[in-house]
Amino acid sequence: MPQAPTRLLLATTLLLISCVASLQAQPNPQSNTLLVNIDHRPVTSLNGDWHVIVDQYATGLYDFHQNLRKDGFFMNAPFDPNGHPQDYNFANASTLKVPGDWNTQRPDLLYYEGPIWYEKDFEHTSKPNTRTFLHFGAANYRTFVWVNTKKVCEHEGGFTPFDCEITSVLKDGKNFVVLSVDNTRIADGVPTLQTDWWNYGGLTRDVSLVELPQQFIDDYDLHLSRTDHSLIEGYVHVEGASSGTTVTVSIPELNAKTQATVDANSRATVSLPAKSLSLWSPENPRLYKVEISSTSDKIEDEIGFRTIETRGTQILLNGQPVFLRGISIHAEAPYRTGRAYSQKDVDTLLGWAKELGCNYVRLAHYPHDERMTRTADKLGLMVWSEIPDYWALQFDNPAVLAKSKQQLTEMIRRDRNKASIVLWSVANETPNTEARTKYLTTMADLTRQLDPTRLVTAALLVRTEKTASGSNKIVDDPLGKALDVIGTNEYIGWYEQHAEGADTTTWDIRYDKPLIMSEWGGDARAGNHAPKGSTTPALWTEEYQAEIYNHQIAMLNKIPQLRGTSPWLLMDFRSARRVNPSLQDNFNRKGLISDQGEKKQAFFILQKAYKDKSLGKPE
Ligand code: GCU
Repeated sequence: MPQAPTRLLLATTLLLISCVASLQAQPNPQSNTLLVNIDHRPVTSLNGDWHVIVDQYATGLYDFHQNLRKDGFFMNAPFDPNGHPQDYNFANASTLKVPGDWNTQRPDLLYYEGPIWYEKDFEHTSKPNTRTFLHFGAANYRTFVWVNTKKVCEHEGGFTPFDCEITSVLKDGKNFVVLSVDNTRIADGVPTLQTDWWNYGGLTRDVSLVELPQQFIDDYDLHLSRTDHSLIEGYVHVEGASSGTTVTVSIPELNAKTQATVDANSRATVSLPAKSLSLWSPENPRLYKVEISSTSDKIEDEIGFRTIETRGTQILLNGQPVFLRGISIHAEAPYRTGRAYSQKDVDTLLGWAKELGCNYVRLAHYPHDERMTRTADKLGLMVWSEIPDYWALQFDNPAVLAKSKQQLTEMIRRDRNKASIVLWSVANETPNTEARTKYLTTMADLTRQLDPTRLVTAALLVRTEKTASGSNKIVDDPLGKALDVIGTNEYIGWYEQHAEGADTTTWDIRYDKPLIMSEWGGDARAGNHAPKGSTTPALWTEEYQAEIYNHQIAMLNKIPQLRGTSPWLLMDFRSARRVNPSLQDNFNRKGLISDQGEKKQAFFILQKAYKDKSLGKPE
């Protein structure tokens, strides 16, 4: 923004003074919808440079007695009657790129946890009979948004999209958006205080303006019937539409078309016979152009049609047993590090997964940028998608359960038409307590209620008993009752025993359900090698990590109901828990590839096992 003339300074200041005043003044006008398929709508991008103010003491929100402010953005607003000096000025503030976490944009912000204020000017000319929204791909962790001095929304959760309707506060010509993103970790958060990933803060994904007709298609679900592979069924919701409004769904390539009318809830149930449908699979990631329209809106999507279900301990894709040859992935940007958000990041990460020979990826431990699931659809990678119900949430706190439900709903709503997603995961490595099992059973039930077409899973911890010849792993976590597919994490060779310990480990799975070994592996610093020919490579060497993989693969092949695996993990990632100097330096080094793209020896061991299919069998 150019050096602001006084009048603009006045406008900015008045805006900011009234911004926070409105924090209590009016009830939060939460937008009443969450837009889907945004990447197929014409939008105005607000990506680029935003002015920012680091506000470590939340001065913009609280006064010096820690009361939520009523009198303005900062104490010494320039129009303070005492003529105090001005403490801030967006016009002269530095900038950060959006999208992008702040931690990796400025060295002084690498460890920053707290609020940062963002400001952006934008032009707008409103059109009659339209509604305008601000759409955020994600912002970590808590966000408050004002447009032209009016509070328009707030959102908690760092990995799911949200929308703010701004129709009533927009002006023709110049407009301002001012928002605060606070990445402070909170005990009653989702996730909570402890995570093994970096707390990247900020506007970490795209921000855009979306202009829509008064009545618009804001949600739909189109999936293949499990019982009839030539029938597509689902629903279309038209926000603002009155009962009886007609919706049309068509797939031109199949010469398939259907019409239906919305009910009193603006939702139409649809059923579309689709003869000669080519089913989506990793071998044939067939997507169809689908046209969805109502009297005033039209949207196109690219959707693959397939079924996923279980039969005993098998996972069935389109009715055929399948083995998920996978890898776990964090949303860490290759090379530059920080939160992954771009198509380039996605192409690199999923390109490596394909090179590894994967037909499946576990997107840990939170929903990734929508480009990941879009690209998985196109590449033919099945996806395990997860909300960050990670480790020890406050499972006895109803407010936390509400946050988990909100994030689950946002994840499913955004991605329910992505054929690649076959598993919704409700948790990772949570403590086996009564409160936890009740909480996550509720979450599993909600998942099925929101989307009965996919499988529900979670990554469980296992018990270990010593045996005469080694150890026995027992999978009997009571949460397993609520799951369709049992996920299990173990680290034989790293957190317990030496790599050979896998040779004398037996498995006792107390559920007659498919098992996915959802995590295993060990750390290695890329380029750190044991002496040539060494038979006892030291920890942290590539040779030792390779040992773990060799012994683990042999053990996994002895588990009859194993139907998939996603070793931990594709690429090294930043974590504040990883403090071993020179070996970790705030990175978790379990990647098969370093954050600088260096493939470690274990990469080629797993690649061989996947390509020659010597690991795992579907039947
Ligand atoms: C756990 C956890 C991961 C973590 C990994 C590790 O299983 O699920 O988030 O990074 O182990 O310790 O490296």
